[in-house]
Amino acid sequence: MTDQMPVTSPVLEMRDVSISYSGIIPAVTGVDLLVRPGEIVGIIGESGSGKSTLAQSILGLLPETVKISGQKLALSGVDLLAASDSTLRNLRGPAAAMIFQNPMTTFSPLHTLGRQLMDLLWRERHLSTLEKRQMILVALQDVGLPDPAARLEAYPFQLSGGMLQRVAIAAALLMRPSLLVADEPTTALDVTMEAQILHLMREIRNKAGVSILMISHHLGVIAELCDRVAVMYAGRIVEEGPVETIFADPRHPYTKALFACEPALISDTAMRLPVIGGEVPRPVDVGCGFAGRCSQVLDCCSVLSPPWVAVHNTDAPHLSRCHRSAP
Ligand SMILES: Nc1ncnc2c1ncn2[C@@H]1O[C@H](COP(=O)(O)OP(=O)(O)O)[C@@H](O)[C@H]1O
Ligand SMILES: [Mg+2]
Repeated sequence: MTDQMPVTSPVLEMRDVSISYSGIIPAVTGVDLLVRPGEIVGIIGESGSGKSTLAQSILGLLPETVKISGQKLALSGVDLLAASDSTLRNLRGPAAAMIFQNPMTTFSPLHTLGRQLMDLLWRERHLSTLEKRQMILVALQDVGLPDPAARLEAYPFQLSGGMLQRVAIAAALLMRPSLLVADEPTTALDVTMEAQILHLMREIRNKAGVSILMISHHLGVIAELCDRVAVMYAGRIVEEGPVETIFADPRHPYTKALFACEPALISDTAMRLPVIGGEVPRPVDVGCGFAGRCSQVLDCCSVLSPPWVAVHNTDAPHLSRCHRSAP
């Protein structure tokens, strides 16, 4: 078997991926990330740490002027960095779909939801309009939308944020993706709606086996939903491991700082990230980007790039990019 066989390939594989908007300071630096079939992986980090840039690179949503480099950015075994335009076009629908923070901007305000969902099925030329309509109704039912037939006639503004986010999830699933990338999908919702959407996402994984990359700056969401979590700081992944391990035994001082303020609230879905003192993160070339804000800083931290160290080396390793984690 080769790693090009979809059955055995990870759904997403990033190796040493860097992304620059302007060419001087990359927004994302040297990211390694793996999402296996059926897995829910979380990315957590402060605003500006590069989470959305990373997400958009997977879906090919970044402007053409943005430079993506690295060893590999593969969806279901197909490397997008090496792919031709036609491979990308064919892959984008089936391989990955995205859910955004604000469901109002997912849809056009000018057309009914039914028309917009129909348009998404343009590839399915072998299906009649009636068959497509039936597919859409089933998808809307699957995401728990009450009275789906009536919603087809509705315009986006006629639905609540939570209901519209359900429609957005249904729209993504109509593409039958292997990977769902969700960028802060519950940030614009109230706590009750948030809990319902998280429940729905867990159901989607369990029933349809879709892998999910869940981006959030919200610890409770990550703790509740994810199998593994990657902590992002200033364009880099600084810690990664099984969600229980990261929450119970964080090793990177940045992760510790994120959790330090109110550990009792980690199970509370309403919890937001505490604010850490110091400057807004900026990617650095040399040393550790957190050195200037770190309470455990060593002399070497600002001059030597920290190693990517396995804290626990099990089936799902726990890794930390910190001089203090080194043996
Ligand atoms: N369209 C853009 N043009 C230039 N820089 C951008 C653009 N979008 C984001 N950035 C920069 O990239 C970095 C990462 O941003 P982003 O990916 O939005 O982070 P996050 O989603 O974690 O808040 C930030 O420094 C941000 O200013
Ligand atoms: Mg973002």
